[in-house]
Amino acid sequence: MLDRSAVRRELASIVGVDHVRDTDSAEDVDWTGRFRGDSTVIVRPADVGEVARVVRWARQESVSIVTRGGNTGLVGGSIARAGAILLSTQRLRHLGEVDPLARQVTVGAGATLHETQEHAARYGLRYPVDFGARGSATIGGSIATNAGGVNVVRYGMTRRQVVGVEAVLGTGEVVSHLGGLVKDNTGFDLAGLLCGSEGTLGVVTAARLQLVPTNSHVATALVSCDDIEQAVVIAAAVCSRLDCVDAAELVTRSGVDLIEEVSGVPSGLPDRSAHLLIECSSSSDQSESLAAILAEFQDIDVSVAITGTHRARLWKLREDQTPMINTLGAPFKFDVTVPLGALADFVDAIPNVVEGVRPGARTFVFGHVADGNMHVNVVGGSGSEDRLTEAILGAVGARSGSISAEHGIGTVKRDWLHLARSAAEIAVMKRIKGAFDPDGILNSGVLLP
Ligand code: MLT
Ligand code: ZN
Repeated sequence: MLDRSAVRRELASIVGVDHVRDTDSAEDVDWTGRFRGDSTVIVRPADVGEVARVVRWARQESVSIVTRGGNTGLVGGSIARAGAILLSTQRLRHLGEVDPLARQVTVGAGATLHETQEHAARYGLRYPVDFGARGSATIGGSIATNAGGVNVVRYGMTRRQVVGVEAVLGTGEVVSHLGGLVKDNTGFDLAGLLCGSEGTLGVVTAARLQLVPTNSHVATALVSCDDIEQAVVIAAAVCSRLDCVDAAELVTRSGVDLIEEVSGVPSGLPDRSAHLLIECSSSSDQSESLAAILAEFQDIDVSVAITGTHRARLWKLREDQTPMINTLGAPFKFDVTVPLGALADFVDAIPNVVEGVRPGARTFVFGHVADGNMHVNVVGGSGSEDRLTEAILGAVGARSGSISAEHGIGTVKRDWLHLARSAAEIAVMKRIKGAFDPDGILNSGVLLP
């Protein structure tokens, strides 16, 4: 086994001495602060050729690789096991020219979501995958995790926007299919398979992305009510009657209370149990149609925003949820989906479920209500993490839900994968892993038990 200085020296011969160094401990921890890694060095290849050489070298030396994008994952999926190297995609941030005919662009894996969105906007187009960590999260990471976000209700998960990828497999082979043909029915969809593979099959180095039109008129409504069920019904009614709903997000009273507690500033929101944020975008103003649908519901407070500043103020309530919860300490995070018919019952039940196994904990639930995707965050309290996980995932299973909606499996949910996938599915996933990464050097310990 090579020592750290030998690893550094050999990697430097591939990427140059300026682009390999010892990992510092601040880099070896995930965004939540819950998962700590133990990597040796971080290496920053400049292009796909260098990535391939690094992977081939690692395979030959039996060194594990963990790919590091923006480090915004929430399930311990980009944390290095002892002795692994971190392969940073930081230098792979090329933003290609947008093809205005196909409305597509090829970008490097290390480009952030925000950079990609801004780049598309310069051509009058939009990259519709969006979530709070857009400033750090990378295209490669969002492909590896098949990231969701606030616009899934309209545009689907990341996989739907990816029309091609370039990646280095665990064998060191480069696969590249960036032509962008939407109709290209020529066998296995390797790009689709790499989406959501959590870095276990290959290192994504670039992607061909589908862009969508930028809609000139955006209307955002904040609906406050006392009943989660009513929020679910309102979101569904708006989605059934308007074909331009970009987002439908739920924040509960505990989340608003937390923002007031941490900021020391009253939110100015009505004192209600549920706050539903609905955003529509179109080539014409839909605010009146939206308001007309909402006017059919009794006992709700509604505020509709069409200016950028007003809309941003409403969105802040939603986007502050994750960072505000983190100010209380590293949370246990559960990213689950339940069928819409069971969503209100789930949200209402979950604080008691948590209290039963982790007395004294604080529970915050928020999320993407039209997708049935709730983020359950638990902070503090005492009691075993396994019992908490069992209780929450049990409540999800009892309602025929999924243990991971959009964050992935990572290391945290790996041992619970059998709750979501059959033995036959897990077996075939392992065989696929074997074909892409026969020596198991990529993100070992992630996703597959
Ligand atoms: C969100 O929807 O805000 C993200 O998935 C982040 C989170 O769950 O904390
Ligand atoms: Zn989310």
